[in-house]
Amino acid sequence: MTTATLNSFTQFKPGFCQPDCIQQDCPTTFTCPPPSRIPMAQGNFIPDSIDNNLFWLRIMMEHALFMRLAFACINIELINEAQQFEQAYSNLLNRARAVSNAPTEQNVRALNQASIDLTRSFTCFKTMVLDRIITCGPAKIGGYNFPLLIDHIRREALAFISRLTALQTGRSEPLALTIVRDQTFWHRIMADHAKFILHLLDPSERQFVEQANSLSVLFDQKRLQALDLKSMLEPNFPVYPILKRFTKESLRVATQIRDFKASATELIGDCELLSVIPELLADHVRREADRFAQTMERRLSELSQV
Ligand SMILES: [Fe+2]
Ligand SMILES: [Fe+2]
Repeated sequence: MTTATLNSFTQFKPGFCQPDCIQQDCPTTFTCPPPSRIPMAQGNFIPDSIDNNLFWLRIMMEHALFMRLAFACINIELINEAQQFEQAYSNLLNRARAVSNAPTEQNVRALNQASIDLTRSFTCFKTMVLDRIITCGPAKIGGYNFPLLIDHIRREALAFISRLTALQTGRSEPLALTIVRDQTFWHRIMADHAKFILHLLDPSERQFVEQANSLSVLFDQKRLQALDLKSMLEPNFPVYPILKRFTKESLRVATQIRDFKASATELIGDCELLSVIPELLADHVRREADRFAQTMERRLSELSQV
């Protein structure tokens, strides 16, 4: 390479933002819109807090139950600890229901903090369990908790903490960032669900196994697509028309997997499906798909107001 070519490379400034470029002294030819023109996500402290607590506290309580049921019966201390989390979440869920009947800024803030504290501690428990499943040696535990399942429910716990922390601190962010982050999060969650269903169905249920596998492939693709878009919108996250199409598509596929889970839940409840999927687990993943669909509906309505 000649010296002239090298110089032209070192002087080259790309016309798009690198992820860390927001702190940099960008050239005047920079093409990103100024931050003041970036639509921000709108939140409402009391209703958003209540909504998140009522949804996620039940989810967390059920995670503790699923973990407990899948530990090996010799791991009595882990079974007991999981049961304590289940009870603590059940108590906090009752408190959230009471607060939702007469919410004030003060009692909602205290509830959020209690949920953050308990979920931080539950996240540590999940991490310890995951480490003990993966490790090799005397600390290793058996049982039927897939490593990906523990990683998955830990991600859900972290998302709950992150949402509540944003509400507590009043942190706001660009609407486009909220949308692409929702999509990368939920697409990955849906892809995992499809994989769990696939591995818990009886192998003789060929048609359902095939359907679950197709959904796993579909959501893996959707997640990669959302990650690409997230990268393209960095670091300022303006709202471009492509975001609306992606959100509409996310809503469509969220509805598709929710309906698949709803029929599976019904069949499991009627003992018409061969599997080792507990009915509560089927209903749990159906509720999460429903949450994904509702979130995409809300984002579409926010996009229409930009
Ligand atoms: Fe979950
Ligand atoms: Fe999940």
